[in-house]
Amino acid sequence: MPSESIAPLFDAADIAAVRQPLAAASFLPPKVYSDPRVFAFEKQAMFRRTWLPVCHVSQIPEAGDYFARKLFDEPVIVVRDRDDTIRVMSNVCRHRNAVLTPSGAASCKGRRLTCPYHGWVYGLDGVLIAAPHMDKADQFTKSGIALPAIRHEIWHGFVMINFDDEAPSLLEQLAPLESKVAPYRFEDMVAIEFRRAQVDWNWKVSLENFSEAYHQPFIHPTTFDGEFPATKATYDDVEGPYGMFWMHQRNGEVPPFLVPPVEGMPDEYYRAYSVVNVYPLLHLFMDASIPLWMDWQIDDKDRHELIWYMLVPKSRLAEADTETLKAQFTAIMEPILLEDVEVCEAVGAGVRSQLARGGRASHMEKTVWQFHNWLLDQYLR
Ligand code: FES
Ligand SMILES: [Fe+2]
Repeated sequence: MPSESIAPLFDAADIAAVRQPLAAASFLPPKVYSDPRVFAFEKQAMFRRTWLPVCHVSQIPEAGDYFARKLFDEPVIVVRDRDDTIRVMSNVCRHRNAVLTPSGAASCKGRRLTCPYHGWVYGLDGVLIAAPHMDKADQFTKSGIALPAIRHEIWHGFVMINFDDEAPSLLEQLAPLESKVAPYRFEDMVAIEFRRAQVDWNWKVSLENFSEAYHQPFIHPTTFDGEFPATKATYDDVEGPYGMFWMHQRNGEVPPFLVPPVEGMPDEYYRAYSVVNVYPLLHLFMDASIPLWMDWQIDDKDRHELIWYMLVPKSRLAEADTETLKAQFTAIMEPILLEDVEVCEAVGAGVRSQLARGGRASHMEKTVWQFHNWLLDQYLR
């Protein structure tokens, strides 16, 4: 944890502007995107005590499957054990700290994790079970040596971790969202990556862009706003570390779906898209048929990779050809995402300006204002 708080970076006027009711509010100053001290704080403190997505359970379907990735400087691995238990552990060997497995999804050979460096072997539970040529090391014993477990909770199929054992439970914090999200049944879906892009701006620029409908008529006039106009979007009040809003079909009609929608949803779900962000990094853009999950790999203050997945109900996947479905979904989403990426690039450049300011918020940016209030809670801790 950094020794210094970044609270002094925000003066009373910055704080008051964001804490106003939405109609009178302004956004946080641009230094939250551009100041290296803010990013250092996010990396060393904020992301270490908030809930972060690692993978979706469908990425590790069988016993012995794992999904590894680096979250900031922390290599982590999610493993499905023989009894279907999902474990999250450090992906760093207890010998001389080599990263055990490359990033991505794979299956453990022989249901063991073997360090590539000197061959120390761990079980799926992280316990050291073999350490070659250590018999001459005085009083060396394997017992008590294991990959450190990392706290996790599974929210509708998403494996979420927290490096802070004292942080409040995610599931408890998301209880107010439960009845709204449960009908989508992400836990019964399969995550299929369909696109990724390396981009050169601060991660919050991306999150904020995908969190409001205000920009739609200007950025997506033909690709989205015609069917789901920004003027009809509605934004929810929130009671936790999340944001949610809805984009309703122009005439309240049911739009065509790529595959038949999930059954048994409330009627309005079939006539709208919704967006949920679980702060800071879980983003979902949902229709009733194939929701989209946007994941992040944050490299630096001004650089991250966006990874887009389609979430396909297992039952629909059985009926469809995956590659065809992916091509169809990409054809619908790609033009929209390209429009978004282009405008994010403009904001990413603009927030580095010495003359940039935190501007006034529109009523169509309630979710961004909510996010800035959540961010301020983090920055002022
Ligand atoms: S670093 Fe893993 S066995 Fe040596
Ligand atoms: Fe957009």
